[in-house]
Amino acid sequence: MNLVSTKTIAIAIDGPAAAGKSTVAKIVAGKLSYIYIDTGAMYRALTLQAMLEHIPLDDEALLVQLLQRIDIKLKQDKNGQLILVDGTDVTSEIRSQNVTNNVSFVAKHSNIRKEMVNRQQTLAAERGVVMDGRDIGTHVIPDAEVKIFLVATVEERAKRRYEENVKKGFQPNIEELKKEIEQRDFIDSKREAAPLIQAVDAIEIDTTSLSINDVAQRILDRVKEVTHSL
Ligand code: DC
Repeated sequence: MNLVSTKTIAIAIDGPAAAGKSTVAKIVAGKLSYIYIDTGAMYRALTLQAMLEHIPLDDEALLVQLLQRIDIKLKQDKNGQLILVDGTDVTSEIRSQNVTNNVSFVAKHSNIRKEMVNRQQTLAAERGVVMDGRDIGTHVIPDAEVKIFLVATVEERAKRRYEENVKKGFQPNIEELKKEIEQRDFIDSKREAAPLIQAVDAIEIDTTSLSINDVAQRILDRVKEVTHSL
């Protein structure tokens, strides 16, 4: 008897900035051979393009026009996921400090969110996805079979970003990173449209003193439980 269900599901992973969502989501997707969808990258790609075109980030109508005009693609590559805007690879540019510090201003517009959510729902329609973001369990896939909400103290999140940046050869200031994370959390959780909030049926995991592999394993255990009962 085959005890492993072949039913594919949708896994929603939400949480504040730098809580480890994307690292964990990639591991979980890899183990299950699911597709990983980084929704933050879509907001980042739009922010980058808006800045390149000098579009004011508080002009919702112009940003909506821009979003309709450009093609944002997430492409699986042997080295990971690539983000393409009109065919140009912007995978590293969207992680720049400038984009990071401005993306929350773009993501707070309700008409931008409406269009992004539409696109993300299309990507998740076939299931077999691990999607991470801020509103996945509440708005994008409210019927996801597994919903996870990752949290960690702001000190721990700043420390992780600090170490990531040092590895990339930068000399970050940890206090500044902490301030930036706090500011992003504030805008993301106080905005009117789909604020960062834990879905009532999401499982909260505090990652502060857990390893990435421990967090991934907890999610995989939950997936096993859920798929066995389907
Ligand atoms: O996960 P990230 O840091 O790459 O996300 C970048 C920004 O995009 C984040 O500050 C909030 C926004 N975002 C959002 O509002 N909704 C999502 N589903 C994903 C990201």
